[in-house]
Amino acid sequence: MESSRTKVVIIGAGPAGLLLGQLLQKCGIDHVILELRSAEYVLSRVRAGVLEQPTMAALREAGVATRMDREGLPMTGFDLMWEDRRAHINFSLAGKCVMVYGQTRITEDLMQARQATGGITHYETTNVQPHDFDTEQPWVSYEKDGRQFRIDCDFIAGCDGHHGVSHKSVPKDRIKTYDFAFPFGWLAILADVPPVSEQVAWINHPDGFVMCSLRSKTRSRYYFQVPVDEDIKAWDADRFWGEYRRRLPTSLAERLVTGPALEMSFTPLRSTVNTPMRFGRMFLAGDAAHIVPPTGAKGLNMAIADARRLFEGLKQFYHGGGGHMEQLDSYSDDALARVWKAVRFSWWMTNLSHRLSDNPFNRQMQLAELEYISGSVAAQTTIAENFCGLD
Ligand code: APR
Repeated sequence: MESSRTKVVIIGAGPAGLLLGQLLQKCGIDHVILELRSAEYVLSRVRAGVLEQPTMAALREAGVATRMDREGLPMTGFDLMWEDRRAHINFSLAGKCVMVYGQTRITEDLMQARQATGGITHYETTNVQPHDFDTEQPWVSYEKDGRQFRIDCDFIAGCDGHHGVSHKSVPKDRIKTYDFAFPFGWLAILADVPPVSEQVAWINHPDGFVMCSLRSKTRSRYYFQVPVDEDIKAWDADRFWGEYRRRLPTSLAERLVTGPALEMSFTPLRSTVNTPMRFGRMFLAGDAAHIVPPTGAKGLNMAIADARRLFEGLKQFYHGGGGHMEQLDSYSDDALARVWKAVRFSWWMTNLSHRLSDNPFNRQMQLAELEYISGSVAAQTTIAENFCGLD
């Protein structure tokens, strides 16, 4: 086995791992990223696209925000729509705004910065395994091109997503997983067509949720709710557009422009939180620690917030003089306090906007709540401040 040493091994090159890597790189803290997939594969995944202010700030701090600041679209509010009714949630109620800028672009920006600054990422590594994270000498083993490697380190950052190896390496009696799966998911299309609505819209239709989102002025991202056991192979772009148009309010259906699918995908909706987020010298960040339904646009922001917070702890340890562990010690509690609020908001938005069951009582409750929101500045403010990110 070939051995080497670094300070921090980051498992996973998604937004959490790449951002943590770039912040460490800027600070001169040695680290290595190990990623299961190829760089091309990571870049081909189409995901989130709404950035809260602290996310933008973290990307600026990492020095990867030039394109975001040039091409990102400020989002000042969104529409909740139901039965040809509309409530506009204006983010000025929370004194904040957010930005539309795709996760794929963030990943690309982070990868380019990493390449330019000489950060080491080993792609297509297999059998990545963290070891001895309960001691002060953790290490990570992996394989690449048929060769076996070992990296000794001070800390391991588990940024390897929901299906990653980090949280699975923790003995079952030391990790508690909270999990809730909705019986439905989202069928999504990405297409180079002008967005049907300037405002991102969440639509409660009797047959299920519909969403109009965008990635730019010429690229749209649309979703609608399907049962979790839907046969996704039975959906092509034509069938998607037909059902999507049918569920849109008339005012939007008339303006819908359709086109070839750049990508179609299915996302099951579930909430999962792994607690704690620290096991000795291994820290979980991003989807490795928690996933949320995309309804509240929180997943990417939570991943970035974790990476930013973990970086602060590592910076204090290496540059604070004397190996201080205070911030690393409080990482899990601090992160979870923030995470649970975002999990609650994502769950609540999902309950408000989706067809939950065949029981008409559920829909009446949703309609009453939507009517309440449309007439209450207090309710709109609550939504605005949760959507834009709680401090
Ligand atoms: N070894 C190495 N890498 C791994 C392993 C493994 N065993 N398992 C998974 N990975 C990699 C994945 O291939 C992926 O590139 O870890 C990375 C995790 O990245 P993400 O899933 O994007 O997670 P994260 O960085 O936390 O970002 C969360 O992604 O899923 C969206 O909505 C979510 O926007 C949020 C963001």
